[in-house]
Amino acid sequence: MSGGLPSRVRLVEVGPRDGLQNEKTEVPTAIKIELIDRLAATGLTRIEATSFVSPKWVPQMADAAEVYAGIHPRPGVRYPVLVPNEKGYQRARRAGVKEIAVFTAASEAFSQNNTHASIDESIDRFQPVMEQALADGVTVRGYVSTVLGCPYQGEVPLRDVLRVAQRLHELGCYEISLGDTIGIGTPTQARTMLRAVAEFIPIDALAVHFHDTYGQALANILACLEEGVTVIDSAVSGAGGCPYAPGASGNVASEDVVYMLHGMGISTGIDLPKLVATGHWLATQLGRETGSRVGKALA
Ligand code: HMG
Ligand code: MG
Repeated sequence: MSGGLPSRVRLVEVGPRDGLQNEKTEVPTAIKIELIDRLAATGLTRIEATSFVSPKWVPQMADAAEVYAGIHPRPGVRYPVLVPNEKGYQRARRAGVKEIAVFTAASEAFSQNNTHASIDESIDRFQPVMEQALADGVTVRGYVSTVLGCPYQGEVPLRDVLRVAQRLHELGCYEISLGDTIGIGTPTQARTMLRAVAEFIPIDALAVHFHDTYGQALANILACLEEGVTVIDSAVSGAGGCPYAPGASGNVASEDVVYMLHGMGISTGIDLPKLVATGHWLATQLGRETGSRVGKALA
């Protein structure tokens, strides 16, 4: 830390999963693989590659095994995947996955819509997965969604965020990503939430995950950096959204986060021009403009 800010931050790139899970048009498997390989070449060390959820609910991720098999793994880069239950874990293991991410929410209503289960039921589903994963030497990250608000129930009490985050930590998640799924929070709320969680879970085991619906994501990230967080989730070209979070826009753009961090003297190990080029490449593949402000400025 220097001057209240960390000197180095790690980005978790979620574009290939969070970015593409909500795409209306079908993205060819080869494009997904090329995206992951291009991202790895920018210096990113964590790339969430895909998701072994039910293809009935998220058909965009039905080719998870093919995507994972097609990646050209780069030394020093980890490629976690989302897993909701034992079936997903078995599929992921058959594909050779070495790191998974489990997910639940702080809001009951969101949990029901996203996974057709209460918060506790969703945790019961992945508890055996976690036990097996830890026995298999597979590392497990955890997500808590709707930490600053829910599209169905509105306000989410802080005590619910704390309860769920603590549960994931106790179960063995090495890192817990706190998700503002609908991008509704503001910096003071983000700060208060993170400070409260960090009273119970070491800050080194926490990450923040902001969608940018209301344009608050960078400001929220800065507030969290000032609280000592050093891991930030983001998606190249600002892609993303959860199919079960109506109205939510993409994740904060990785290019915008890297520009802000480098501009504040915080290192990331990421080559910004290469990342910007990857964002433009993805936008072209998806037939639209990049969602990154920095990408547009540096076009
Ligand atoms: P379910 O429908 O409630 O119950 O699924 P089920 O377990 O009976 O499964 C229904 C069918 O799916 C069955 O097939 C299962 O075999 C199959 P059928 O008998 O009808 O032919 N199935 C599977 N197939 C392949 N892989 C699997 C799998 N599981 C079941 N893993 C379930 C419950 C949780 C699986 C389902 O609701 C689901 O997959 N939900 C995923 C929702 C999702 O992916 N949401 C987006 C990710 S979360 C997110 O974006 C938020 C985050 O970014 C953070 C933030 O922003 O806050 C992480
Ligand atoms: Mg998300």
